[in-house]
Amino acid sequence: MTPTPAIARSGVPRLGFNLDHVATLRNARGGTHPDPVRAAIMAAAAGADGITAHLREDRRHIGDDDLPRIMAATSLPLNLEMAATDEMASIAIRLAPHAVCIVPERRAERTTEGGLDVVRDIQWLPRIIGPLLDAGIRVSLFIGPDPRQIEAAVSVGAQVVELHTGAYADAGRDVEAELRRLTDGAAQAAGLGLEVHAGHGLTFDNVAPVAALPQIAELNIGHFLVGEAIFVGLECAIGKMRRLIAEARQAAVSS
Ligand code: PXP
Repeated sequence: MTPTPAIARSGVPRLGFNLDHVATLRNARGGTHPDPVRAAIMAAAAGADGITAHLREDRRHIGDDDLPRIMAATSLPLNLEMAATDEMASIAIRLAPHAVCIVPERRAERTTEGGLDVVRDIQWLPRIIGPLLDAGIRVSLFIGPDPRQIEAAVSVGAQVVELHTGAYADAGRDVEAELRRLTDGAAQAAGLGLEVHAGHGLTFDNVAPVAALPQIAELNIGHFLVGEAIFVGLECAIGKMRRLIAEARQAAVSS
């Protein structure tokens, strides 16, 4: 298992680059270009701290063959997002990525629209999580910043929670209320001994307040970076995101 880099050599959250939508573009033509492996190598050069990829049950973007290629091409830790199914758990155990992030999955959704309902699945999830932990894989759960879900994450044995920032990103005038939920959720989760990550819908414009939260150890960002790469290139987009995250955390620490 790749050791998790310390939250921060410099107290700055790690940036996980989610390259699913490089594969979405490739798959639009059914060929090999653009190759997510090339994107992973560029992300490493641009300062990303990890690679995130979601192997969906319908394989709409990342495919089974992509994962070992990504793992072989870069030394960055791979965070494999997956649904809580036996099929996905056995793929993860075979691949042995650094971490797995369990996400809810519905075929009809365009993206991962909400967090897991850990409270509802409290009996089922340990059957998936236990073998992953036994295989030495770090286990994260993608949940909303809801106190009951955070408590349930501890009781099913997760080591990490990734707080879903989609409601914050889409909040409009309610942004302060959504940021408050993330602030409280991050504090609660860290207080219960969980490592805290966050992601979904983050952009250059909205990343700073989340990156400033002192408990956040990692941000996973994909769609915006791949879209921005069309205009400025992937290295430039990732480099700027890395800088904004670092500046937000450093400003919070020194204020
Ligand atoms: N984290 C998780 C668990 C996700 O499922 C996703 C993709 O929905 C992301 C982060 C990245 O979200 P986005 O592509 O909106 O940056």
